[in-house]
Amino acid sequence: MPVSSHNGSGRKLWVLGSIRMGKWRIAAVGTGNIFRGIHLPAWLANPEAEIVAVCDAYRAGAQKIADEHGIKDVYEDYRKVIARDDIDVINICTPNLYHSEVAIAALKAGKHVF
Ligand SMILES: NC(=O)c1ccc[n+]([C@@H]2O[C@H](COP(=O)([O-])OP(=O)(O)OC[C@H]3O[C@@H](n4cnc5c(N)ncnc54)[C@H](O)[C@@H]3O)[C@@H](O)[C@H]2O)c1
Repeated sequence: MPVSSHNGSGRKLWVLGSIRMGKWRIAAVGTGNIFRGIHLPAWLANPEAEIVAVCDAYRAGAQKIADEHGIKDVYEDYRKVIARDDIDVINICTPNLYHSEVAIAALKAGKHVF
C-alpha cells in the first residue's frame, strides 16, 4: 500500500511499497502432525493466504487434507511444487533431515520459505 511520510524538512515524501494484489499463494511440503495441527489452521484463518497445493511423500495424507479443505493440487515430489511460478510461499513441515534440501531449492526458485 502506498504510504507517505515527512523527511523533517517539511516536504512530504511518497514511498510506493510493493503492492500486492490478491492473496499469498501457499504450498505445504510435509503434511504430517505439525502441519495439520498448527500450520494448516493458521493458514486457513489468515484472510491474506490461500493454500493452493499440498505435497507429501506419503501422498494419501496430503490427499486427505486436500479433500477436506478443497485444495486442488496434490504432489509427492516437492520439486514439482517449487517449479510452479504461481506459488509464493513454501511452508516446510518435513522431518528435520529434509528441511535444508527443500528450503534451499525453494529459495533458489525465489520463493518465500516458512
Ligand atoms: N515448531 C514446533 O512447535 C514443532 C512441533 C513439532 C514438530 N515440529 C517440527 O515439524 C517437523 C515435522 O514434524 P511432524 O511431527 O509434523 O512430523 P510427521 O512425521 O508427522 O510429518 C512429516 C511429514 O513429512 C513427510 N515427508 C517426509 N519427507 C518428505 C519429503 N522429502 N517431501 C515431502 N514430504 C515429506 C512425511 O511423509 C510426513 O507426512 C519436524 O521438523 C519437527 O521438528 C515443530
